[in-house]
Amino acid sequence: MEGFPPRCYDNLMAQPPGGTASVSTIDPIWAPLYEEVADCPRCPLARTRSRTVPGAGPAAADIMLIGEAPGAREDDLGVPFVGPAGKFLDELLAGIGLSREAVYIANVVKCRPPGNRDPEPNKIEACADYLDRQITMVDPRVIVTLGRFSMARWFPGQTIARIHGKAMRAEGRMIVPMYHPAAALHNGSLRSVIEADFATLPGLIAQAATSAPEAVR
Ligand code: URA
Ligand code: SF4
Repeated sequence: MEGFPPRCYDNLMAQPPGGTASVSTIDPIWAPLYEEVADCPRCPLARTRSRTVPGAGPAAADIMLIGEAPGAREDDLGVPFVGPAGKFLDELLAGIGLSREAVYIANVVKCRPPGNRDPEPNKIEACADYLDRQITMVDPRVIVTLGRFSMARWFPGQTIARIHGKAMRAEGRMIVPMYHPAAALHNGSLRSVIEADFATLPGLIAQAATSAPEAVR
């Protein structure tokens, strides 16, 4: 952990709601990347962020969830999905027997867009290298994209309405696009859709361990 300045621990020590994450449970393998993100000047969001939100979870996770961008609470705490959408995500995970500590969670951009704007293409592009490196390090069996921005990394031009919940194949791994929990939270019909999609995940994870899904594009 040499060279990992204490201010970076601030990010990592922030507790998810009900969570037990602490420095002792943070995989030190993330230190260089998280430190680099903490100092990142690559796009204008660097000027307006309070904290960077690099990601959370073990590098050995089988499943990786990729959202959009930090919101206000994430920007305060430096941890992804700790606001209302995060609470719902925790419920969705608990519903299939997964704790937050068992999955790796990241966003397509690591700094909050002011006013919760959608992440813009030039910022997504500037930040893409960090996400690429996270995917390489976790090497998950299954990636779940949450919302259209992470979906578009693999399936530009697709719509979530068409491909949500479908096991797709890209770059040699299984990708399962899903609605964003923030979109589904207050929309009764989307809420049932995302719950049903999450319910298929254990089977898909098992399937990904043994065989490759067919592409459905
Ligand atoms: N929404 C996201 O996409 N990511 C977060 O970290 C929080 C809310
Ligand atoms: Fe760097 Fe990404 Fe933050 Fe932009 S959003 S400053 S590229 S970490």
